[in-house]
Amino acid sequence: MSLLQLQDISVHFTPKGKPPIVALDHVSLTVRHDTFSVIVGPSGCGKSTLLRLVAGLERPTSGTITLDSRAIDGPSAERGMVFQSYTLFPWLTVRENVMFGPKLKKLPKAECEAIADDLIAAVKLKGFDHSYPTELSGGMRQRVALARALANDPRILLMDEPFGALDSQTRQQMQELLLGIWESRRKTVLFITHDIDEAILLGDAVHVMSARPGRIKASMTIDVARPRGIDTLTATSFMEYKRNILGMMHDEAMRGSQSGT
Ligand SMILES: Nc1ncnc2c1ncn2[C@@H]1O[C@H](COP(=O)(O)OP(=O)(O)OP(=O)(O)O)[C@@H](O)[C@H]1O
Ligand SMILES: [Mg+2]
Repeated sequence: MSLLQLQDISVHFTPKGKPPIVALDHVSLTVRHDTFSVIVGPSGCGKSTLLRLVAGLERPTSGTITLDSRAIDGPSAERGMVFQSYTLFPWLTVRENVMFGPKLKKLPKAECEAIADDLIAAVKLKGFDHSYPTELSGGMRQRVALARALANDPRILLMDEPFGALDSQTRQQMQELLLGIWESRRKTVLFITHDIDEAILLGDAVHVMSARPGRIKASMTIDVARPRGIDTLTATSFMEYKRNILGMMHDEAMRGSQSGT
C-alpha cells in the first residue's frame, strides 16, 4: 500500500541575478507503507530538495505530493526529520530532547517518560539521559536525533544523509543500530545518501537519481534477506546490486562532467 506519492514534481529555483536552476525535473516516486526507501544520487542532483518537499519546507513548482492521499502543505510532526547536521536543542538534556515532541502534543507525563525510556534504550544511550548535546560524540548526537524523531511516532521518517558527518566506523555502527531498530519497529522511512553500500544495506527500495536536473533514473527492489548486518555487504546478491548502481552512477558522473555540472 502506498503512503507517499510524488507525481510529476518539478522544482525550479530562480536565485536573484543568476540563471534559473532546475533542481528536480518531473520526478515521480511512490513510497510504500512500512518500507525503507533510499534515494541515492550525485551531489547537487536534488536529493535534499526532494526531502524538503516531503517535509513541507519547500514547495514544488509543479506536480503533487500526497501523504495518505492528502496534499502536503507545510511541516508537520507526522513527518519526522533527521538531518546530517546536529539539530538537537543544545539547552535541553538528552531526555528532554527526546520528550520534546510528546510534551508538545500534551501527552500525559507518564507516557512521555515511557516513550523516553523506550527510545533512549533503543538508541543505546541509557545512562546519558541527563547529558547535554555538547557532552556527546557525533554518533551519540545522531542517536538522540533519531530517538527524538521517533518519539513523535511520525507517519514517515525523513533522513537526509544522517550519517554523512561521521567517521566510517561510527557510521557502520549507526547503520547496524538503525537496521536493528527498523527491523523490530517497521516505520516508513525515506532515506537519502550518496553512499551506495549504505543504500543497499538499508533499503527495501533504492531509487537512483540522475545528475542535475534531478530525475529518477532507476528504481529497484532490494531483494536481500533480513535481518541484515555487516555480513550482508559481502553477499553475492548485494554485490550484484552494487555493480549495477555503480555503473549507473558512473554514467551520471560522466554525463555531469561532459555538461559542466
Ligand atoms: N534555495 C535554493 N535556492 C537556489 N538554488 C537551490 C536552493 N536549494 C537548492 N538549490 C540548488 O538546487 C540543486 C539541488 O540541490 P540539493 O541540495 O537538493 O542537492 P543534493 O542532491 O542534496 O546535493 P548534496 O549531495 O551535495 O547534498 C543544487 O544545484 C542547488 O544549488
Ligand atoms: Mg543534500
